[in-house]
Amino acid sequence: MEKPRVLVTRRWPAEVERVLAARFNTTLNEEDNPLTEAELAAALINFDAVLPTVSDRLPSAIFDQPAMRTKILGNFGVGFNHIDVRAAQAAGIAVTNTPGVLTDCTADIALTLMLMAARRAGEGERQLRAGKWKGWCPTHMLGSQLAGKTLGIIGMGRIGKATARRAHFGFGMKIVFFNRSAVDDDETRAMKALQMKTINEVLAASDFVSLHCPGSAENRHLVDARRLAVMKPGAFLINTARGDVVDTTALVEELRSGSIAGAGLDVYEGEPSVPAGLTALENVVLLPHLGSATAETRTAMGMKVVENITAFFDGRDPPDRVA
Ligand code: DGY
Repeated sequence: MEKPRVLVTRRWPAEVERVLAARFNTTLNEEDNPLTEAELAAALINFDAVLPTVSDRLPSAIFDQPAMRTKILGNFGVGFNHIDVRAAQAAGIAVTNTPGVLTDCTADIALTLMLMAARRAGEGERQLRAGKWKGWCPTHMLGSQLAGKTLGIIGMGRIGKATARRAHFGFGMKIVFFNRSAVDDDETRAMKALQMKTINEVLAASDFVSLHCPGSAENRHLVDARRLAVMKPGAFLINTARGDVVDTTALVEELRSGSIAGAGLDVYEGEPSVPAGLTALENVVLLPHLGSATAETRTAMGMKVVENITAFFDGRDPPDRVA
């Protein structure tokens, strides 16, 4: 029997590419240039499986073509808001993602951003590298401590919990959170994490707010000007979820006026472009979407995709099917 034709849209860790090449008739993106929408549309006609990731865009129109060969999109990543999954499903295409394996890694980046923003680490490093550091003095670049402060988590799923765990047990922070459904398990009880009824209650109670909700039309600009205004003066906003969960223009205004102390961002609306309004500010830490960027995690993500498409082509249910 012929091996399924599989297209990998970006370079993946070599170990995973080797497994894919052995198991499937695999086409790799040797140059690692993001595919255009026209190239992705052509891929749906020519390959049995397409393995996209966060840098690809698959809107509903792309699934509206005759004679599509693709039967599964094995997404490399837990977030899949770049794929119109309803349109894929309507076109008879299964979609899978990679939950679980990037939880710790992403929570680590949330803590990295919290520490960097609170302790002005980016600003300090820029000052030193520019040769502008005048030496130690008692009032130089004072930041905020984490111990004893309240961390508000928006979205108490796997990554939200892992972030809360680190903050509570590692840094002595109190945890409050908003989650659409009730969360009452041993883990949240052990952290004495308090579930609040509304997002605004969490924003008003927190010294640090960390976003862990999925990117979706529903969550677009969930944190807008009105919600930013509810945050405590001197608070910090951390976003490792999706860029469009925050209204960037409103955030820039808040950061400029100093009504919140700072922010730490790993994701952006319209990334990889980052607005000049953000890059011009000292009180925001900007990382280039590094949430899952460790060799171990990216390999584990790739192996999850392999498991999903292997199950699919063996006639089994893919373990991480989302549509
Ligand atoms: C994901 O998996 O959704 C991440 O954002 C990629 O790091």
